[in-house]
Formats: sequence, structure tokens, C-alpha cells
Amino acid sequence: MTSEWEVGRVEDLKPGTRRIINVKGRQVGVFNVAGRFYALRNICPHQGAPLCEGEIGSTLLPSRPGEYVVGREGEVLRCPWHQWEFDITSGRCLVDSRVRVKTFEVVVRDGHLFLIA
Ligand code: FES
Repeated sequence: MTSEWEVGRVEDLKPGTRRIINVKGRQVGVFNVAGRFYALRNICPHQGAPLCEGEIGSTLLPSRPGEYVVGREGEVLRCPWHQWEFDITSGRCLVDSRVRVKTFEVVVRDGHLFLIA
């Protein structure tokens, strides 16, 4: 059975920021990526680090030899323990898409964010 959990007011979660909340005794990170909201469980599938406390940033994109192209600014979460990178929008690990962190739906209603869990 799913439930809704209030995260807070939309205006209090600015683009590029996150909030970690407790849901059913587990921590979930809620992220604002350029005005869209995503939620990930705060546990890295590698060795259990608090993934959602990691750095939010960009990653290197596929490019020709000798070129370094940076992209996906604000969509990438880097684990604080071993720096594995995850796509905030899907929960998938960037180097191995078979590895993913659990995601949750976030809805906006009347200026408030609600997590569906
Ligand atoms: S615990 Fe996250 S990359 Fe190792």
C-alpha cells in the first residue's frame, strides 16, 4: 500500500538543492533538478553510503580522444564514499545502468511537494 509523505513547500526546495526526509523509517533524498523533482533512497547500492549527501554536479560525456566534454549539470549525484555517479532523474549508475538506487515519485499539489512511497 502506498502513502503520501509531505516533503515541504516547493519554494523552499530551490533548483540544485536537496532535502533528506524520513519515510517509513528510511531516509529519502528529494532533489530539485532545474524545476523538476526526484526522490532517491539515501543508500548507495555499492556499499551503503548515504548517497543523497553526495555532491550534485555534472559528468564527462562521451567524446573523441583528447576531448573532455562536461554535461548534465545538476543531474548527477556522486557518492561520498567511492564517487560512483548516479543519474538523479532515473537512479541509474552512470557506469553500469544495471546498478540503480530506488526511486520514488514526487508530486506537486497546492505549492507543496509530496513523496509517494
Ligand atoms: S558506497 Fe557508494 S560508491 Fe561505494
